[in-house]
Amino acid sequence: MTATTGHELVTDSQLKRYAKLIYDVAGVEISPHKKQLLSNRVRRRLKVTGIDSFEAYYNKLVSLPVTDEEWDHFLQEVTTHETYLFRDDSNWNWFRTEYLPQIVSEARTNGRVKKLRVWSAACSTGDEACTVACCAAEGIAAHSQWEIKILGTDIGVGAVREATAAKFNERAMRLTPPLLKKKFFDEVKGEVCWTPKPLLRKTMSFRQHNLLDPLHERPFDVIFLKNVLIYFNTESKLRVLENIKRVMQPGSMLVLGAAEGVSELLTGYERVKSWLYRFTNSASPARGKAGVR
Ligand SMILES: C[S@@+](CC[C@H](N)C(=O)[O-])C[C@H]1O[C@@H](n2cnc3c(N)ncnc32)[C@H](O)[C@@H]1O
Repeated sequence: MTATTGHELVTDSQLKRYAKLIYDVAGVEISPHKKQLLSNRVRRRLKVTGIDSFEAYYNKLVSLPVTDEEWDHFLQEVTTHETYLFRDDSNWNWFRTEYLPQIVSEARTNGRVKKLRVWSAACSTGDEACTVACCAAEGIAAHSQWEIKILGTDIGVGAVREATAAKFNERAMRLTPPLLKKKFFDEVKGEVCWTPKPLLRKTMSFRQHNLLDPLHERPFDVIFLKNVLIYFNTESKLRVLENIKRVMQPGSMLVLGAAEGVSELLTGYERVKSWLYRFTNSASPARGKAGVR
């Protein structure tokens, strides 16, 4: 077997086999025009592991159980982790100005239990979970009386590690409203980055999870599922949506990315906006009320 050189690309046959492997384990589709990208990313693993060819690395992967650490590193490399705080301002306008005031009012007037449970599914480095924590700290005035739990999960171990460290650079923070940045974040001395204050930190936890597997948790009030299913095909999207439903209860909200491409696949939801669905647990496909489509 010849060693892979610095600029060599995976062959068509290797691309197909790597793509199938990634699809089977993570549900993510790698299209044929991603040859360069895949080659670059696998090459990084060759460098770290000292394995000298794409073929040998492939053979190594298939010989290992998916629980092996090398699988974690591989998946971390081949998936896309782009994220930042306050991404998609329409989501956060809704969360801050409609959803949070509504649950606070329900707690005041009809005895809603003062609990908020949010899941940032495929959270990458935790920017979305941290945005939720920041909005919740701002919007739920009597914070100490509320039990707020924000869970961030991702398939990438590196992403989860970074999420737990909770350090956000200038680029990640660029859309954070200045007042919230000032109130809820501390600048990290000696590094050009910010970290959430303990008030926010104590509401967040992170762990590794594959969306293709069920999450063993009690139902959430809101689930953010953004910028991840775009990389999945219909079969794996359906599998993820089944797992999502298991941790919803009637009234739970599902926030999707603008291009997730799942609206036709959703059943048991009421469509509130193109990216926002309320779980109703009815058998019919998601339909909007008159005027909201
Ligand atoms: C582009 S980031 C999206 C981050 C965040 N949700 C946002 O919208 O800003 C996509 C994330 O999905 C994760 N991912 C891909 N496949 C996954 C799977 N099967 N289970 C869990 N996470 C997955 C990747 O590791 C990556 O961190």
